[in-house]
Amino acid sequence: MIIYFSGTGNSKYCAERLGELLEDRVVDSGRYIRERKKGKFCSTKPYVFCAPIYASYIPLIFERFLKSSEFEGSKEFYFVITLAGNSERGGSILPDTLPDLCRDLGKEYMHTAHITMPCNFVTYMNIPSGDEVGKTIEEAEKKLPECAEIIKAHGKFKEWTVKKSEYYAVKPFLRFYYKLLMKDKKFFADESCVGCGACERVCPMKNITIENGRPVWHGHCTQCTACINRCPKEAIQFGKKTKDRERYYIEKYLK
Ligand SMILES: Cc1cc2nc3c(=O)[nH]c(=O)nc-3n(C[C@H](O)[C@H](O)[C@H](O)COP(=O)(O)O)c2cc1C
Ligand code: SF4
Ligand code: SF4
Repeated sequence: MIIYFSGTGNSKYCAERLGELLEDRVVDSGRYIRERKKGKFCSTKPYVFCAPIYASYIPLIFERFLKSSEFEGSKEFYFVITLAGNSERGGSILPDTLPDLCRDLGKEYMHTAHITMPCNFVTYMNIPSGDEVGKTIEEAEKKLPECAEIIKAHGKFKEWTVKKSEYYAVKPFLRFYYKLLMKDKKFFADESCVGCGACERVCPMKNITIENGRPVWHGHCTQCTACINRCPKEAIQFGKKTKDRERYYIEKYLK
């Protein structure tokens, strides 16, 4: 069973491709997270978790979902994470943290594969567009069958070698980074908002409501960037810097 968390579609895309390659079921954890519901799953095939990297780790909301859910059947836990960087360093605390998570859940850690995908972090940086995005997705597409073959054979993904200094540069501060980054106070909808409600529907945290035809954010953001990237009018801004920035969601680039 493949279970994913995704804001702008990269991890969903990888999960669905793996679902095809492994002929296995694909589940959106967002459905549970939105309703604050625990998952209860049963699978004889390995569990594969697809999620983006947020500050060198899987989104803490996804970690919480995994910790609170029940996974019957297979003992094998694989992680396929998507990130914008092109090396393991982008997920520097995964190799030391996920094995403990698996152990606590009574599962075997089958290691983590990383797939470089286009960056969606528009609230804090310029993000790629055009051909560059297409090439990144093409490269990712080549890695997914390799991952699927390893999973089919019940093998382990290659172990990562992240320096301890990189781990200690992030791990003790992770919750602090979250407090710093996962804020929604700077979001607002500009005059091009048409009150369509798409932002409310895509938010995995149920953090947006439409009031008097405009979105209102409620302080439970996880910065997945779905609202700002997926608004059909590009009406959502984050402070002053996003006005002229490109927006990204994977469906924009899929044929
Ligand atoms: C809040 C946030 C933090 C991020 N942190 C990192 C990071 O530490 N390293 C990295 O390589 N990419 C980082 N990214 C980029 C995403 O991991 C990448 O674009 C991912 O594929 C998005 O997946 P999704 O479309 O499934 O949401 C970050 C993106 C967001 C929104
Ligand atoms: S998705 Fe965009 S246009 Fe639609 S309500 Fe939200 S901000 Fe307004
Ligand atoms: S408010 Fe926007 S960025 Fe925050 S969790 Fe919801 S969709 Fe994601």
